[in-house]
Amino acid sequence: MCSASASSTPTVTVSRDEVITGDAANNVTDNIYEKIGVNLHHIDSHPLGIIKSAIYSFFDRNYPDTFTKFDDLHPVVKATANFDEVLVPADHVSRSSNDTYYVDADTVLRCHTSAHQAETLRKGFASFLVTGDVYRRDSIDATHYPVFHQMEGVRVFTEEEWKAAGATDGTAYCEQELKKALEGLAKELFGDVEMRWIDAYFPFTEPSFELEIFFNGQWLEVLGCGVMEQQILDSNGREGHKAWAFGLGLERLAMVLFDIPDIRLFWTSDQRFLKQFKAGALDTKFKPYSKFPPCFKDVAFWVSEDFTENNLCELVRGIAGDLVEEVKLIDDFTHPKTGKTSNCFRIAYRSMERSLTDDEINSLQEEVRAQMASRLGVELR
Ligand code: PHE
Repeated sequence: MCSASASSTPTVTVSRDEVITGDAANNVTDNIYEKIGVNLHHIDSHPLGIIKSAIYSFFDRNYPDTFTKFDDLHPVVKATANFDEVLVPADHVSRSSNDTYYVDADTVLRCHTSAHQAETLRKGFASFLVTGDVYRRDSIDATHYPVFHQMEGVRVFTEEEWKAAGATDGTAYCEQELKKALEGLAKELFGDVEMRWIDAYFPFTEPSFELEIFFNGQWLEVLGCGVMEQQILDSNGREGHKAWAFGLGLERLAMVLFDIPDIRLFWTSDQRFLKQFKAGALDTKFKPYSKFPPCFKDVAFWVSEDFTENNLCELVRGIAGDLVEEVKLIDDFTHPKTGKTSNCFRIAYRSMERSLTDDEINSLQEEVRAQMASRLGVELR
């Protein structure tokens, strides 16, 4: 819950009609709509709730009485808050309806918790943590799901504060403080895991970095961060102050920490998953209770002009729900004579809970093919 009651936004249940408007810009599908208000991060014994509490506790112990915590800010926000107020350029791809869910032309499902930076600064908070569900149209695989959870952290310093710390350059001071805080956090969560800082770009920070963690034989990006762009501070009542900011993905951290192999598991109501986790216990290692074989189906087609992988993924998710594990482009060629482009995608179907029958998978795949032709306008091969 929000610990700053005066400014807390109560958890609102949005009625379906409020979100699914007849607006031409609306691209929020039913299965996305159903996730609003679920708030997995409010459940103390859910892996996401456990991670949230562990991060809170890290900041409370190391920065007592510093951060105000918000975890019930509503995910339907103005496009201006999601983009303009954090300086996302007018032509940035994240603004496209291929990447972001629009409720109407001016309203989105936040695609990051950074959507609350400016507003929270304006309300007078200097240091805060904002946790919430965020929404992105994306591809489908074990680490991508159209809804996931982020925690935003912001810490503002006045000039007196950073000068009193002996620093001569506010930006360098913020960078150093930021890296110290996040390395401390990563150590606390993961122990002696290998990590590395990568230079990055975000419209709202300069310099910007990503922190990667070595997990299951590969480097996994777990957070983005940087020194807040001065304009954001100056426009929101913090003229001349300096700040660091980070945004981290709770699912990514939880997958690494608890050995959770597939992001769909966070949404399961299967007790064999949920029962394995206990509030406050960071040392749980998930034990898979079943490994049903995946079933692969390929679909090849001539692409239409406005075909996108995200649209295909949304369509497959709409039909197969959480039975789809991965959608992967396995062939892409352009015919030398006709100039037409053919794609072949391999769809992996797998339930985490039970065996799927051939009939069931075949009928899902038939429906996928039918809707690809009718709704995506592609020519099946
Ligand atoms: N909003 C960024 C993202 O979602 C993360 C971020 C937050 C980066 C704050 C820098 C500062 O990827």
